[in-house]
Amino acid sequence: MAYPHYLAGLELRGRRVVVVGGGSVAQRRLPNLIASGADVHVIAIDPTPTVESEVAVTVHRRAYADGDLDGAWYAMACTNDPDVNAAVVAEAERSRIFCVRADDAKQGTAVTPASGVHRDLQFGVLAGGDHRRSGAVRAAITEALADGTSLKIDDDRKHAAGVALVGGGPGDADLITVRGRKLLAEADVVVADRLAPVALLEELRPQVEIIDAAKVPYGRAMRQEQINEILVDRARAGKFVVRLKGGDPYVYGRGFEELQACVDAGVPVVVVPGISSPIAGPELAGIPVTHRGVTHEVVIVSGHVGPDHPDSLTNWEALAQMRGTIVIMMAVKRIDEFATALLAGGRPGDTPVAFIENASRPDQRLLRTDLAHAGQTAVDQQLIAPAIAVIGPVAGFTDADRALGF
Ligand SMILES: C[S@@+](CC[C@H](N)C(=O)[O-])C[C@H]1O[C@@H](n2cnc3c(N)ncnc32)[C@H](O)[C@@H]1O
Repeated sequence: MAYPHYLAGLELRGRRVVVVGGGSVAQRRLPNLIASGADVHVIAIDPTPTVESEVAVTVHRRAYADGDLDGAWYAMACTNDPDVNAAVVAEAERSRIFCVRADDAKQGTAVTPASGVHRDLQFGVLAGGDHRRSGAVRAAITEALADGTSLKIDDDRKHAAGVALVGGGPGDADLITVRGRKLLAEADVVVADRLAPVALLEELRPQVEIIDAAKVPYGRAMRQEQINEILVDRARAGKFVVRLKGGDPYVYGRGFEELQACVDAGVPVVVVPGISSPIAGPELAGIPVTHRGVTHEVVIVSGHVGPDHPDSLTNWEALAQMRGTIVIMMAVKRIDEFATALLAGGRPGDTPVAFIENASRPDQRLLRTDLAHAGQTAVDQQLIAPAIAVIGPVAGFTDADRALGF
């Protein structure tokens, strides 16, 4: 994400700062400049009585002239004459001095944040020139710091209409990305999957419309069409829609179909990657899907259809020839079929296998077995979805079982 400004703290103690103009804007800026210890010079034809009587600054009662910024580290153009302000900014630009322009912030090279202090803490808020918004957030932060409550800021921001396809991670609310969480907080509508981190929905503002995608009626294909339709319709109605999905939107998540629907409809759409279960699930159970010197490949396979199904696009014979890691998703009902295909293709029966059920959730479960017994273990242990099957030497790694967590 690109921001219009870089936030920095300036060390101005003893350094010359020139403020051109002595009206109400200068008057409001002076206290913080003085508090920073800067050597402040105000150049103004007609300063307000408050500015004029400020003993901690040097007031030059005259018009601005080119060269007034000589020796300055920082400047502010705050007269009520745009030509004068433009001339100050031009001199500052030539002299490489950062300069705030009060009447037209975009023409300056610095902006003043809405700032606050709490004990020895200083903070500043920039909202791309929206002073009302930065002021509101500053007030909320000040209040929260003062009374020690947690920060609940309604910064009154309206996100532009469109759709964000957000990967929510494997289920634990902490495993969504920072960007995903930010966008979720700005949503007008959230269309959530069953495997998405639904705990996050509790944090949404009361006026947010939540649509449970798992409950959208009709058959499978129709359901996806309906979801696409909902995304497009809501965005066209001016809403910002977050499509909250489990894991990563593009890993067996039909995210690209949703993107295509938005593109076809001319609706703005972005994708936010998510932590994907075929890698994170094993990892959370202590299994790395690759390990130096042990496995040079990892293949992620859909177990949605069996090896003999006419719709299968997977070459199970080729997979059976591999020595590395095979991760099968959506495989719970057909573990026996996949194990049989791999054994028939030559993968040894003692190849370690691990099942990770409900990864990252409180009821996460890890089962270990080998390829010859994988199908029977899944049945005996009543393996349920969502689960990941890991096949290969890494599935036998147990070192993480002894790791000290915190
Ligand atoms: C339709 S796919 C969606 C995958 C998702 N887009 C991702 O990147 O993780 C659903 C399958 O992902 C796997 N899965 C998703 N979340 C899981 C979890 N928390 N624990 C174990 N497996 C999970 C299961 O194999 C499940 O059948």
